[in-house]
Amino acid sequence: MTAQEIRQAYLDFFKDKGHSIIPRALLVPEGDPSTLFTGSGMQPLLPYLLGQDHPAGSRLTNSQTCLRAQDIEEVGDNRHTTMFEMLGNWSLGDYFKQDQITWVWQFLTEVVGLDKNRIFISCYSGNQQLGIAKDEDSADIWTEILSKEGLSTKRVDIGSMDNGAKIGEQGGRIFFYGDKNWWSRAGKPNDMPVGEPGGPDSELFYLYPQVKHDTKFGEHCHVNCDCGRYIELGNCVFMEYQKGNEGFTKLPKRNVDYGGGLERIAAAAIDNPDVYAISLMRPIISTLEKLSKRDYASNTTAMRVITDHLRAATFLGVDGIVPSNKEQGYVMRRLVRRAIRFAFDLGIEQNFIEEATNTVADLYHKDFPEVAKRRDQVIALLMKEEKVFRQTLRKGIKQLDKMAARGHLSGEDIFILYDTFGFPVELSVEEAFTRSLPLDPKWREVFEQKMKQQRERSHTAAKGTFKGGLGGNSAIHRKYHTATHLLYRALRDELGDQVVQHGSNITEERLRFDFSYPSKLTPEQIKSLEDSVNTQIKRDLIVSWAEYPTEKALNEMGAMGAFGDRYGDRVKVYAMTPEGSDVPYSLEVCGGPHVSHTSELAEGGKRFKIIKEESSSAGIRRIKAALI
Ligand code: ALA
Repeated sequence: MTAQEIRQAYLDFFKDKGHSIIPRALLVPEGDPSTLFTGSGMQPLLPYLLGQDHPAGSRLTNSQTCLRAQDIEEVGDNRHTTMFEMLGNWSLGDYFKQDQITWVWQFLTEVVGLDKNRIFISCYSGNQQLGIAKDEDSADIWTEILSKEGLSTKRVDIGSMDNGAKIGEQGGRIFFYGDKNWWSRAGKPNDMPVGEPGGPDSELFYLYPQVKHDTKFGEHCHVNCDCGRYIELGNCVFMEYQKGNEGFTKLPKRNVDYGGGLERIAAAAIDNPDVYAISLMRPIISTLEKLSKRDYASNTTAMRVITDHLRAATFLGVDGIVPSNKEQGYVMRRLVRRAIRFAFDLGIEQNFIEEATNTVADLYHKDFPEVAKRRDQVIALLMKEEKVFRQTLRKGIKQLDKMAARGHLSGEDIFILYDTFGFPVELSVEEAFTRSLPLDPKWREVFEQKMKQQRERSHTAAKGTFKGGLGGNSAIHRKYHTATHLLYRALRDELGDQVVQHGSNITEERLRFDFSYPSKLTPEQIKSLEDSVNTQIKRDLIVSWAEYPTEKALNEMGAMGAFGDRYGDRVKVYAMTPEGSDVPYSLEVCGGPHVSHTSELAEGGKRFKIIKEESSSAGIRRIKAALI
């Protein structure tokens, strides 16, 4: 089966088991400041995992594009990618371990046809301190399935990664680990902020006997070893806990959150440990081979990096991000520039972005209509970034000229050229040689040290972003969410129906709202918008919601929605209505959460104020506003 066929078969399989297929969420979470990107399929479903009812029911499935920017440096081996598709199925208080484990086994072995002998399992070993028991239930279900297949069911207690490397596989089939088999967005139990849901998980691994264990990763191999002999295919999270102030409490419902890596499953289906060999990747590599007139076998790392980065950058573009120096735009810029730098290593100079990105778009445009719709725009955007980057490179050459005038090149110089001017290290070294410019003897050490410091800085920043807490649910977040609806309504009233929401983002400090409108707002318009929102806050509108068929909500009821959003069959609609009236002031398709009365926004004597109005991109204005 090709990767495309596996994706479709997965959705069909779970549809057959009563699941609603829901659209993928954008790579950039809407109104969730706790993280820059959608990093797992469950992330957009957080409110529902915490107990809210989902309009599409209690069994859901999709293929969610995910981006894990923290893996950017790992890209280049045969299995790490920044962007991947996560095949997901969810039970919101519906089925639990028995069905989940049975179905995932059936899908991988019967539908995809993977070799049963090569699938290995891990389960949670429990944590006495937290009062959470060893997951014998899952292990028993696995034992029943495996023994029916005539396979070994031997259990081995591994515990920690260190112990795994020490004791190895021991001929086991089901392995118990501690924190490795606990899943939450924040990782292990101790790292979870209060309010965060999580739970024990059971993972499936595929053995590639053709890969030899590398002792660089530990004395012995085990399923979680990083040597690449075992590759994780999927993870069944039994999400039934929530972090409290003291220890864990049970969530209102027991959920299943399953995620499987489409690219890795597709690689297993062709028995190739290299995910870049699959039908969604190999054509991109082939384009690079054609452009560079070099082959993949001897230019593996560079071609993998370019392939990964352009896939990610393309989807970021499709999802509305543009390269910039901040947040998601910065990551996108870094991906594109890294791809160009590696292309430079391959000697590719011209028509690079255009041709390679076209190949990426060809692979996705049938299954993702939004790719078909925006491909030309995205290619133009990436080509522009390429042009800007080449200019930056030229500036870097000027900087290098200045440095060269000092008679030598230091590790710090090379770091500055790399970090600020995007200069590949190899390029700086090459320039030094052609100019007969001596390199400081310790340049590499100094450079590595600077890189390490920079990585630590960015890791701290990334952690900080998440630790900000469960932004999606804090009181201030709810207030800004409600204020956003009031602002949208006011904009429509003030400026007309040409105003359509193009994006929204909320932090603890402010809301941000992007919308279509051709010109700068006048001070009078801004004042009038503020007055309008403050009036509605004072009117103490009642905030309520109900579910409707999407068609009815958007067309009959005239609920407002955001541009480019794809909705399932049913949607949740939020209404803000004056007491005693049945005509809502605002009606908007939205997942929530919101306050229950608009007067809550005025708590502490606060007023709604627009702090900034600026251009976001052609024809799109951006407002930042706060309650102060
Ligand atoms: N949410 C789980 C994961 O990302 C399935 O591994």
